[in-house]
Amino acid sequence: MAILVTGGAGYIGSHMTYALVDRGEKVVVLDNLSTGVLGLVSPEARFVEGTIGEPGVIDSVLSQHEIEAVVHFAGSIVVPESVANPSKYYRNNTAASAALIEACVRHGVRNFIFSSTAAVYGMPQETVVPEDITPAPINPYGRSKLMTEWMLQDVSHAHDFRFVALRYFNVAGADPAGRTGQSTPNATHLIKRACQTALGHYPYLEIFGQDFDTPDGTGVRDYIHVSDLVAAHLLALDHLRGGGASNIFNVGYGQGFSVRQVVSAVEAVTGKPVPVRESPRRLGDPGMLVADSSRLQDRLKWKPEHNDLKGIIRTAYEWERRLNSRV
Ligand code: UFG
Repeated sequence: MAILVTGGAGYIGSHMTYALVDRGEKVVVLDNLSTGVLGLVSPEARFVEGTIGEPGVIDSVLSQHEIEAVVHFAGSIVVPESVANPSKYYRNNTAASAALIEACVRHGVRNFIFSSTAAVYGMPQETVVPEDITPAPINPYGRSKLMTEWMLQDVSHAHDFRFVALRYFNVAGADPAGRTGQSTPNATHLIKRACQTALGHYPYLEIFGQDFDTPDGTGVRDYIHVSDLVAAHLLALDHLRGGGASNIFNVGYGQGFSVRQVVSAVEAVTGKPVPVRESPRRLGDPGMLVADSSRLQDRLKWKPEHNDLKGIIRTAYEWERRLNSRV
């Protein structure tokens, strides 16, 4: 039996694929390489190039391989793009997930792990967010993911099908072994962007908003190392395999850092200056978003091992230097 990883050539999916093959699992990766990179896929995984929503693609993968569980990363992830082009998000995230879930039911695949997001919370009143507040996404990206969570819940009630949805906070860092990392061109995420600025790719880093209700006025986020995020997926897989119930879990450390704190940490780790420029807030950015991940720790016994901002930055920076040396 094999695990199907959709989006396995992407940032998080490629880390998950390595983690699975490292523990001896058989893995089939399905990715259309629209943003993924073939070179990031573990050579020990079986790679299939294809788009989930296209007729026949999923049926063919599920018929040709004995798939025991699906870990679904494939999708579009850029919030401002989702505002400009919502249909793309409802097609690539919601409609593609609907097709995938339906095919799983048809082929008797009963275990499903879904890559959800803290964007389902929108702008919560709570600064440390538990899973059971009412989700209120403020952009099509968040809505497209929340709709998939709802589909999973409904399908799990109607069929012999269980799921775990993991709501990621701010994922950063790279494989400590240096095999894969965030390679998306023009990525907008803070830690990657700050590392690129330290390396001279950009003349300065924009700080979006200095008047939030936070200790230094800049946005506060819960940055989590991709290896700890992947560990949560492995625990979710074991949970489902062991007959565990469907559930939704936040994945974050419960500790926030401001943009200015991240910039200082990048300067300390790299030994290079990160020039900054103060810019207006980005549309829809909450001031503070930090995970209450006690459910994940209690129910799945998740124990973070890389909860160290400088360590996260070190792996992100190492990966960035590796990408540099390839061009
Ligand atoms: N920021 C800057 N300058 C930059 C980039 C980011 O000041 O160049 C700030 C943002 O304003 C925010 C913080 O750094 O305060 C983090 O921003 P990111 O773009 O790294 O991440 P977001 O919190 O905006 O988004 C992340 C994921 C989304 C997900 C969201 C859920 O990237 O996919 O968390 O909250 F939807």
